[in-house]
Amino acid sequence: MKFGIIGSGGREHAICATLKKSANVKKIYCFPGNAGTAEIAENVQIEMEKFQDLKNFILEKKIDFVIVGPEIPLVDGIVDFLEKFDIKVFGPNKIASQLEGSKIFTKKLCQKYHIPTAKFGIFESTKEAEEYLKNCKFPVVIKADGLAAGKGVYICENETESLVAINEIFNGKFGETKNLLIEEFLKGEEMSFFIISDGKNYRKFGTAQDHKRVQEGDKGKNTGGMGAYSPSRLESEELNKKIINKIIKPTLKGLEELDTNFKGFLYAGLMIVNNEPFLIEYNVRMGDPECQTILPKLKSDFAKIIEASCNEKLEKIDIDWHEDKTLCIVLCSKGYPEDYKINVEIKLDTIQFKENEFLFHAGTKYDNKKIFSNGGRVLNFVIRSNNFKVARESAIKLINQINWENGFFRKDIGYKVID
Ligand code: AMP
Ligand code: GLY
Repeated sequence: MKFGIIGSGGREHAICATLKKSANVKKIYCFPGNAGTAEIAENVQIEMEKFQDLKNFILEKKIDFVIVGPEIPLVDGIVDFLEKFDIKVFGPNKIASQLEGSKIFTKKLCQKYHIPTAKFGIFESTKEAEEYLKNCKFPVVIKADGLAAGKGVYICENETESLVAINEIFNGKFGETKNLLIEEFLKGEEMSFFIISDGKNYRKFGTAQDHKRVQEGDKGKNTGGMGAYSPSRLESEELNKKIINKIIKPTLKGLEELDTNFKGFLYAGLMIVNNEPFLIEYNVRMGDPECQTILPKLKSDFAKIIEASCNEKLEKIDIDWHEDKTLCIVLCSKGYPEDYKINVEIKLDTIQFKENEFLFHAGTKYDNKKIFSNGGRVLNFVIRSNNFKVARESAIKLINQINWENGFFRKDIGYKVID
C-alpha cells in the first residue's frame, strides 16, 4: 500500500512512523513533512492548501490512501475534493468538519440532541452580548465562532474583561465573524477522548491529557500543547460509557440526520465535572501532541486500520493496544508561543533510543544533511512505560542528551498523575 500524509507536525511524523512499522506499507509520501518524515518517507513540497496539485500528484503516483493531519484543509473541504477523483481519503468531509470549523454548529447540535455542554448564548452584536452579560455569573467564557488555531477563547472574570474580548472578536482578530458565543465556565478537569470512525462504525482510540499552557504549573500563555500523557487519569469504564452514550452517539446521529457521516479521527475535548462529561469542543483530527502520545501504544497494524476505515470495514478488524502508559514532552524554541528564532541547528546523532523510546519531529527541516529548527514546537520525546514517573524521567534524560541551547520544555508534564 502507498500512503500520502498531509501535514508537517509531530502528529504527522508519528503517523508516518506508525505506518512504517507495517509490512503492508510500500511507500509513504508526506506533504510537505519535516526532517523526521524525510528519514522514513518522501517529503513532497506541495503545500496543503494546493488541492489541485495534491490531487495531480496523488493520481500520478497511484497513492492508495491519503491521511489528512491538520484541521484547516479538512474544514476547507479537501476530502470532498479528493473523493471526486476516486481518491481514498481518511478524514471527515466538509460538513462533518464543521464540528471543529464552527463552534456554533456544534453548540446547535448539542442543543438539538441534548448533548451535555456548557450553557451558552449566541450573539450577533456587541449590544446584545453586553445585555446578556448583565445577568451573567462570572467567570464567563467568550469564544469566536470559527477556527482560531487554539486562540479565540477568553476566560473573563468580569464585565470589563468581557468587553475587551467581545470587541476583539467583532473587530476581526480571529477573522471576519458574524457571531460570538458566551458560555458558562465549567469547573472540572479536562480530558481528550478519541474515536476512529469509518462512517458507519467507530472504535474508541484512546484518551490523553494535554498540557496547553507554556509554563510549569499550567501558567502562562496557551500553546498548541507542551506535552501529554495517556491514558487520562480520569478514564474508567463507567465514564467511557457516559461519553459514548451522552456525547459520541448523539453527535454521530446528528450528522446522519444531516445526511452525512464522520470518517476519520474525532477528538472530543471534554470537561469532567463530578464524573460527568461535558463537551467543550470537537476537533475533527487527532490532537497534537496527543497523537504522538497515543500511537506508540498501538499494537495492531495501523495501515490495516486506515485501509479498513476508508473501506467501511472497521467492524471487521481488531485494534489492540499495549497495556503500558505513555508520556510525551515537547521541546520548544525559546520564546514560543511568542517570538522565537528558527534555523538553529540541532544535533541528534548522539542520542541512543531504546525500544520503548520515541522521537517525533515537529518544526524541523533538513539542510545540507544537517537538522535545523523550523517552528515553535520542535521535537516530541515519547516514552512507553508502566510508570508515568519513570517515563517522564527517561524523556528528560533524552532531552538533556541533546542539550539544545535554543530549546526549553516543561519538566512537570503529568504532574497530576506523578507529583
Ligand atoms: P477550546 O478552544 O474551546 O478548547 O477552549 C480552549 C480552552 O479554554 C479549553 O481547553 C478549556 O481549558 C477552556 N475552556 C473552554 N470552554 C470552557 C468552559 N465552558 N468552561 C471552562 N473552561 C473552558
Ligand atoms: N493538543 C490540542 C490540539 O491538538 O488541538
